[in-house]
Amino acid sequence: MSGGILVGEMAARASKGAPEQQDFVNGWPHPGLLSGAALQEDLAESFRRGVARSIEEHSLNYGNPATGSYMLGHPKFLQAMATFLEAQYDAPVDPNTLMSTVGASMGTDLCFRAYGKAGDICIFEEPGYFLSFQMARDQGLEPKGVPMYEDGMDLDALEQVCKESMGKVKLVYTVPVHHNPTGYITSNAKRVRLLQLAREYQFFVVADETYQLLNFQPTEVKPLFYHDDADDPRVFSIGTFSKLIGPGIKVGWVQAHPKLLQPLAGLGFIRSGNNPVIFSSMNLLHFVESGALARHIEVVSKDLGERCQLICRKLREVGLEVHEPKGGYSVWVKSKGKMTGRGGQDMAVKGDKFHDYMRLCYGWLSPEQLEEGIECAQQMHRFANPPVHKYALILWNAEQPKQELNVIMSSA
Ligand SMILES: Cc1ncc(COP(=O)(O)O)c(C=O)c1O
Repeated sequence: MSGGILVGEMAARASKGAPEQQDFVNGWPHPGLLSGAALQEDLAESFRRGVARSIEEHSLNYGNPATGSYMLGHPKFLQAMATFLEAQYDAPVDPNTLMSTVGASMGTDLCFRAYGKAGDICIFEEPGYFLSFQMARDQGLEPKGVPMYEDGMDLDALEQVCKESMGKVKLVYTVPVHHNPTGYITSNAKRVRLLQLAREYQFFVVADETYQLLNFQPTEVKPLFYHDDADDPRVFSIGTFSKLIGPGIKVGWVQAHPKLLQPLAGLGFIRSGNNPVIFSSMNLLHFVESGALARHIEVVSKDLGERCQLICRKLREVGLEVHEPKGGYSVWVKSKGKMTGRGGQDMAVKGDKFHDYMRLCYGWLSPEQLEEGIECAQQMHRFANPPVHKYALILWNAEQPKQELNVIMSSA
């Protein structure tokens, strides 16, 4: 600590060492979640069985010569996923409505490729999952933002864009549950209306439900697929094992009406290479069927739920307002001073909003690091905006750099 002599609370903190800045950027599962003995053993057993049965199951090939290639995924894996998801969602899942993918990102990318063309508009929530914007731009789509509220996207704003753009809105991308970065959940009323708008204005909805199965509390929402109309289907519900097992697994799925899945399976690189996760998904078959996946999801949800509670309590203690998520990996906080985590401006399509917001991920850091990081942010915040009474507590010695003193004085 340079030059300042601190008294009171700050002096006490200085005596045990100043809290260090922490990196709240990573929306990753922490190493402890990946290295648990049960997970490691269950995966090893599942992989062993997958390899042992690979010839019999044709999982090292393009498919089964008798029934054809597995464009949508290996039929046994799709059946196992249907059974697993049925129990998780408490709703029927027909394996013919599933396609396996390389995680959620590939699911989104496939939908943008198959259902958008250059010049079409793709709507995003703002703030929104910042890495999705580029997937639209990659296809020549024009991303446009509409505000995201606690109960979901501003649907009046969406309708306005649809009217003004005269049929150019072809895709709407939404993270309707445990939204990244805000943690918001789209209400059932908004889900119904979004689908009404989709039918009226003829757009497709890409629902990135990466966090659907990662719940700390009940949510009372089912995947958007269950709001779709089989006579005029419009929804892709996208799931992934990335935040449940680990991002390196890179297996996910799309749930949609079979008619909507066909163009995804018909894309050039799928027709040429076939479904990209035939082998890796089949190595997970036993993990899914044996109940190990469901057990692991409980472990992950409990662990992350505790971290989420901790960071939210800590944030409140330091005087920041926070919407406590019921699942997912991040909290969204309006800063009052110096920033930490990922800057909110990244979460706007044009980078022109949310400059004073930060997305703080709690999945990567230990509980101690979470506490320390928020304490450090609090100190930085005080540094930038010290309440007037704090002046009485801060004495400066002659070595205090003038510049820092000026910061304190000018931010009163
Ligand atoms: C909303 C959302 N979608 C997709 C992803 C990436 O998922 P995957 O690794 O399965 O592609 C993330 C990762 O942070 C995410 O937050």
